[in-house]
Amino acid sequence: MLNTYAKGWDTMFYLEKEELKGRDFICMKDFTPEQISYMLEVAARLKAERKDGISHPILQGKSLAMIFTKSSTRTRVAFEVGIYQLGGQALFLSGRDIQLGRGEPIADTARVLSRMVDGIMIRTFSHQEVLDLAEHASKPVINGLTDLLHPTQVLADLLTIQEHKGRLTGIKLAYIGDGNNMAHSLMIGAKMGLHVVIASPEGYKPDPEIVALAQADALKNGGFVEVLDNPLEAVHDADVLYTDVWTSMGQEEESIIRRKAFKNYQINSGLLKLARKDAIVLHCLPTHRGEEITAEVVEGPQSVVFDEAENRLHAHKAIMALIM
Ligand code: CP
Ligand code: NVA
Repeated sequence: MLNTYAKGWDTMFYLEKEELKGRDFICMKDFTPEQISYMLEVAARLKAERKDGISHPILQGKSLAMIFTKSSTRTRVAFEVGIYQLGGQALFLSGRDIQLGRGEPIADTARVLSRMVDGIMIRTFSHQEVLDLAEHASKPVINGLTDLLHPTQVLADLLTIQEHKGRLTGIKLAYIGDGNNMAHSLMIGAKMGLHVVIASPEGYKPDPEIVALAQADALKNGGFVEVLDNPLEAVHDADVLYTDVWTSMGQEEESIIRRKAFKNYQINSGLLKLARKDAIVLHCLPTHRGEEITAEVVEGPQSVVFDEAENRLHAHKAIMALIM
């Protein structure tokens, strides 16, 4: 088994150090559809092995440093439990406790951690901070969410869609709400053949540069990305409905104005009826029930949000197995 993983690592994920420099390693945009498919395949295999009670200690003796300057439940637990199940260990480094929080340069943090650990996961506000960390680290850097992107979530989302729909190509995913980190990463994931339609109010649309990048990438691979105003139009014929909070971490002061701006952008039973009958509902979680989604939909039969949350574990194990 070890050899099979090692083969994948060699043939698909080996990159020269120079190529890696300055890259955000686990951003969807850095990987080809074949590489993402392979990550999904490894995730499914690790998931099946775990269910069959087969252990897979392929990262024995390895350590993952996890820097968090924002809160987390799923991401932290998935990486921490995930590396433990792979035979390694995680170090939770709260931004408040490490010297980074007292002004130590990110470049120094990157170089010190690279001398001691085998991989670094970071969740923070500024995307530039992740790029700077990656530039100065000599070990793989995983983006565990920034204000701009949330790539590891999308890997778990793709796995969930594949499990429930049997395919990714041609699946229509309607994302309703804020054109935020989640919307950006889902659009980039359209390179897997998804038709991603985003419906956001004026002033909260996704970053046009990311839209253009995602559209070009998606078109090359049979996918499609579109940005609309009208959520009713977006969900028509959709196989997957997706939403995220109206107020992301760090935007708490804007919550009142955001509640007004997004009031017509809620996934509720009325909106769900306009999608395909067998549509599934995804949400990265946590939810603000009654804002971007109703409790009825979250708890309803079409919701697969807890399968999706579980898949963070399997997807993150695949990421670590392949890049560390
Ligand atoms: N979806 C997600 O990233 O959850 P956490 O914020 O709990 O990690
Ligand atoms: N957009 C949300 C995602 C949380 C997983 C945030 O950034 O807070």
